[in-house]
Amino acid sequence: MAEFKVAPADAPLGEKLLTWVDNRFPASKLYKEHLSEYYAPKNFNFWYFFGSLALLVLVIQIVTGIFLVMHYKPDANLAFASVEYIMRDVPWGWLIRYMHSTGASAFFVVVYLHMFRGLIYGSYRKPRELVWIFGCAIFLALMAEAFMGYLLPWGQMSFWGAQVIVNLFAAVPFIGPDLALLIRGDFVVGDATLNRFFSFHVIAVPLVLLGLVVAHIIALHEVGSNNPDGVEIKAKKDAQGRPLDGIPFHPYYTVHDILGVAGFLLCFCAVVFFAPEFGGYFLEYNNFIPADPLKTPAHIAPVWYFTPYYSMLRATTDVMVNVLCVVIGLGAVGALLKGRLAAPLKAAVVVGALVAVVLLKTFDAKFWGVVVMGGAVVIMFFLPWLDYSPVKSIRYRPSWHKTLYGVFVVFFVILGYLGIQPPSEMGTLIAQVGTLFYFGFFLLMPWWSQIGECKPVPERVTFTPH
Ligand code: HEM
Repeated sequence: MAEFKVAPADAPLGEKLLTWVDNRFPASKLYKEHLSEYYAPKNFNFWYFFGSLALLVLVIQIVTGIFLVMHYKPDANLAFASVEYIMRDVPWGWLIRYMHSTGASAFFVVVYLHMFRGLIYGSYRKPRELVWIFGCAIFLALMAEAFMGYLLPWGQMSFWGAQVIVNLFAAVPFIGPDLALLIRGDFVVGDATLNRFFSFHVIAVPLVLLGLVVAHIIALHEVGSNNPDGVEIKAKKDAQGRPLDGIPFHPYYTVHDILGVAGFLLCFCAVVFFAPEFGGYFLEYNNFIPADPLKTPAHIAPVWYFTPYYSMLRATTDVMVNVLCVVIGLGAVGALLKGRLAAPLKAAVVVGALVAVVLLKTFDAKFWGVVVMGGAVVIMFFLPWLDYSPVKSIRYRPSWHKTLYGVFVVFFVILGYLGIQPPSEMGTLIAQVGTLFYFGFFLLMPWWSQIGECKPVPERVTFTPH
């Protein structure tokens, strides 16, 4: 136990109170460690707004969610009407609901930008691997949270979207049908499904999400923030042990982040007050029709933030599986011819490729679609061990890396767009190319990240006061 401190007899009441608390709970210690004496690099740019904005949206979602639960009824016969009741009769109910529905999309906008920042500045690399891994787990939890929340208004899209996605689990070999039954709680999406999704959406997943966010920030503060130059500020310290290029998070970045919050709230309020449905992208029009198990909508599309992955699922056709077999075959031949591998490794490559091809041809393309969709998220967990570039930040990488990242973003957006559209031959073909590029980007990273000449990385961060 730490030594008991005693405040001077003539100290102000506030100081005495704080000393009393500090003797029982590390309030001042936490404040110093995470705010006033947490040294963050002085060269943060606007990309660094999105972490604090993600925290803000998390708070908005929890607070508005608490108020929604006060009036919402998790019952297949009452859910749709209870949401309409919130919209029309509950004082300010429309605002709370629109804040929550807009917040869901805002969360993904902010988190996608936050992840992209990590990608371009190499923030996932040593020593921040765990920060990144917790982040990826947050992303998965966020997807689960959004998916289950979308069932709750019990509109046509809620019902049919859940039907399509839960049925995907039925494609898992051997355990699939039982797994889908377990998720639904019934043979069709129904009241039992609504109840369990409600329970997960309001308590189980948010608890996991909060725990992961705390772990994410503790891990970050243990190693310190990266920055746009990818230079470790802890490498150069002053006599007191403070990083020369670091500034206290509070008050510098707390104030700085107010700018980001103001910009965000302007956009957020514009959507909430003037375009809450956002042209059917944030709230789909079909979801204003009550769920009807007897009437399948002509076109079922998930909400925009899922559509890149949904596109990859749809792109995994029988033809695509054949293409994958050819790619694996060519990859194996390339490794054998060019890889200068030892004999046991050569044998492993041949056996691995054969097993992969046999597996690909044994199971249904629908199942591989599910694997591709899940794999697209899971592969991000491994990013810290895929990047072999000698430098972290995109600033000092060969210029063509920027083009490559640009093409990656373009394909991701195209995949997202295609996922909203009804399937078409051309669309499927483009989605297949996009899917191959997406996986190629990650899986071939150990190779391409080493190629080309990097620019010299400065010893200290680059910063021009403004
Ligand atoms: C609820 C969601 C999330 C919240 C509240 C959150 C919060 C934060 C905060 C407050 C920071 C420090 C400020 C900043 O660097 O912007 C941060 C840093 C970071 N986050 Fe997140 N985050 C979330 C999701 C994610 C996801 C999904 C990923 C990646 C998959 C991720 C990866 C990172 C990385 C790598 C850093 C360190 C960045 C650096 O030092 O350059 N985060 N996060």
